Amino acid sequence: MSPTAPTIVTRLADYRVPEFLIEKTQLTFELHEAHTDVSSQLTLVRNPQGSQAAHLELHGEQLELLTLAIDDRVLTSKDYRTTPQNLTIYNVPERFVLHCTTRIYPEKNTALEGLYRSSGMYCTQCEAEGFRKITYYLDRPDVMSEFETVIIADEGAFSTMLSNGNCVSDTVKDGKRIVHWHDPFKKPSYLFALVAGNLACLEDHFTTQSGRQVLLQIYTAAKDQDKCHFAMQSLKKAMRWDEQTYGREYDLDRFMIVAVDDFNMGAMENKGLNVFNTSCVLAHPASTTDAAFRRVEGVIGHEYFHNWSGNRVTCRDWFQLSLKEGLTVFRDSEFSADMNSRAVKRIEDANVIRSVQFVEDAGPMAHPVRPESYMEISNFYTVTIYEKGAEVVRMLANILGPTLYRQATDLYFSRFDGQAVTCDDFVQCMEEVSSKDLSQFRLWYSQAGTPHLQISDSYDAARQQYSLTIRQYTPATPGQTDKKALHIPFKIALYDNQAALPLVINGQNQGTETVLDICQDEQTIVFEQVTEPPIPSLLRGFSAPVKISYDYQLLQLQQLILLDNDGFCRWDAMQNLMRMVLSKTIDGANNHAEQAALIAVIKQLLTNHAMMDAALLACMLSLPNSPYLASLYEKADPVAISQARTQLQDQIAAELQTELLNCYQVLQDQTHGLTAPAMAARSLRNAALAYLLHIDEVRYRELAQQQFAQANNMTDQYAALCALVYAEHAEATAQEALAAFYQQWQHEALVVNMWFQVQATRPWGDVLQTVRKLLSHEAFDARNPNKLRAVIAAFASRNFAQFHDKSGQGYQFLAEQIADIDQRNPQMASRLLTPLTHWHQFTDAHAALMRAALESLTQRELSKDVYEVVSKSLH
Ligand code: PHE
Ligand code: ZN
Repeated sequence: MSPTAPTIVTRLADYRVPEFLIEKTQLTFELHEAHTDVSSQLTLVRNPQGSQAAHLELHGEQLELLTLAIDDRVLTSKDYRTTPQNLTIYNVPERFVLHCTTRIYPEKNTALEGLYRSSGMYCTQCEAEGFRKITYYLDRPDVMSEFETVIIADEGAFSTMLSNGNCVSDTVKDGKRIVHWHDPFKKPSYLFALVAGNLACLEDHFTTQSGRQVLLQIYTAAKDQDKCHFAMQSLKKAMRWDEQTYGREYDLDRFMIVAVDDFNMGAMENKGLNVFNTSCVLAHPASTTDAAFRRVEGVIGHEYFHNWSGNRVTCRDWFQLSLKEGLTVFRDSEFSADMNSRAVKRIEDANVIRSVQFVEDAGPMAHPVRPESYMEISNFYTVTIYEKGAEVVRMLANILGPTLYRQATDLYFSRFDGQAVTCDDFVQCMEEVSSKDLSQFRLWYSQAGTPHLQISDSYDAARQQYSLTIRQYTPATPGQTDKKALHIPFKIALYDNQAALPLVINGQNQGTETVLDICQDEQTIVFEQVTEPPIPSLLRGFSAPVKISYDYQLLQLQQLILLDNDGFCRWDAMQNLMRMVLSKTIDGANNHAEQAALIAVIKQLLTNHAMMDAALLACMLSLPNSPYLASLYEKADPVAISQARTQLQDQIAAELQTELLNCYQVLQDQTHGLTAPAMAARSLRNAALAYLLHIDEVRYRELAQQQFAQANNMTDQYAALCALVYAEHAEATAQEALAAFYQQWQHEALVVNMWFQVQATRPWGDVLQTVRKLLSHEAFDARNPNKLRAVIAAFASRNFAQFHDKSGQGYQFLAEQIADIDQRNPQMASRLLTPLTHWHQFTDAHAALMRAALESLTQRELSKDVYEVVSKSLH
């Protein structure tokens, strides 16, 4: 490891209340072409709960300190000290105003944290610790302050100059435009935002449940104004939904969204002034796929919901990140489920947990939902904090039931309004209103790793009893070897070959579905009055983020696929059946019986597709993804996994081409417009098309070509393009389509990204060479995170077959790119590194090559972000 590498660890156990509080924060930004001067006036008071330290220590990084004064007294160099991270002022009074001016260089800010420029406009990103790159401050979420912001620029330089809250005044003086903002709600610095640029604005209004009018504004580049209507509708739906579902009303007179091209994440919930990655706000049927529409709706909801779960009630420290993120993801996921197909949303979420979060949880970067230490907090915006955190909240909501859960969230929001609190405070509210003992449940926050449930059963014909035995264990994770049994809400039903059976436990009738509280290492549940051996439908609705194993017979899986009334379980039964076929292929075992069962059941579904939700069927047709399959092995062979998947796709296509083609043709007339049934029909039709392109025949190439040329929406056009590019036999047609697509869409950055992505995810041929070419394409820009995601992340995390090429070149390529990107944007570099941290999943040969790539990085000068991930994952 390079000797200069920083290794400072922050620990939850070291949390101390702040020594000072900031009652008021007044900021003035003078925007100049080459630099920005920030003057701050902070009204500081000693925190009576602190330890009465004599000195004030502020955070600050990459700042040029111009002036510093306390009240009227200008400070000299003996009054204070600066380091690359801090400003310490000696012997300060109990209460004072600190005046400070710093100079910063947004032009040169390529890390996209703090104040930076994106396509000419100024914008900020302060979460988690970016505010300290703007001015010296107590940049920690438990310091909440009232903010006033003045923005000064040359008159005419920017049409739009925004900050949080309400606009107090907007004047011109001596050739300068001066805009003054005031946010009446106390907030931590990470929620501060400033935007200045030449932007167009779409406006609308929303009347809250108590009758207040709120002005809604979405700011974008002028050319993108026609792509904001869907986001605006989504925003209004989200506002209404939060009133109806959580009783939460919006609090300011104005809610603003700004779209920026260069953004490290999806979007940011700054108070009253959300900043969005263009990819999460712009949408138009001609240029946006259905999946992207749903993502826009989900992210708009997510950021809006943060206004309560995150902003009004915020986190005490960054170890509590899941307090706001887990809760808000759960909220946005329920919002999406209410707006679209609930079953499909549940399947999508479960799929992410199983194929991404379980992998993280089984590897060197595993951490609890509430971590205990970190080097760089930016590395902890993970699927564990977000998605597993959301599953933990979902389990609480299910344990309490809707009425008590709502009472508990009401209590949480009212008790902690305006405060910075902990995950434990949240659980405490759940406990108080329900009088349930959640002490064992709390382990979900502190214990990392995925519980495995081993399930076995037996049937006693004489007693008419069916017994299920469930054993749980959680494998060790780094730093946590001793795992305890968790409280797992386990939803279950029993089926005969017609329908769900009534459940009787201890003489009590439970209806046809029940939730078992699994709390011990091993538990046996006895179902009574069962007249024949039933089929268990397990973990219904994915009721807990756990792995289960149960030895299903083929016939049982077929029955569940056809009969189960839980969408997740139907899909999961299909995944199980597909997995059985695939693992036997991978092991070189005979799988005729499994194959026959699978083909038969898919045939039956396709033939009767009109009888079921087309979107659900589309989900059910896709094979278990490669990372999930890999996670089922002690040491997975990625090449064998990819080959087995392709082989099975070929086979399904070959054997069911009549049904697939029929399904494709029948759905033709149902795919117009943006309604839910039309989207569902498109997803099924395009799933059928993708299979058909596994058959090397002119007529299928023509089908795709025709769909590509005639499509009146991006979903169909892009699906056809993908089908062509992914089919090795369609290379010539695909090249033409790619050229036409670029020609048609080169002016739309987000569509060009899709064009990059389809090429980077092609499963055959020398893709690495293609990827290298894309990196020097005129439309590529290595400073733009969306482009990095479209090419590099697409290749490394969505092209399993190619990234894991046995030469190891894919791994080396990623390491080289990361070393380069790390110079400019450490957060992006660190996130792109994730696929290499999964080396432990693979056979020795692959693992060694992946480790070698990671080790090559240790020879470089690394950011704290990348250093943390590299050093932990090599451990
Ligand atoms: N807080 C943002 C969200 O979840 C994510 C984010 C984190 C954005 C850090 C930027 C930087 O909505
Ligand atoms: Zn969030």
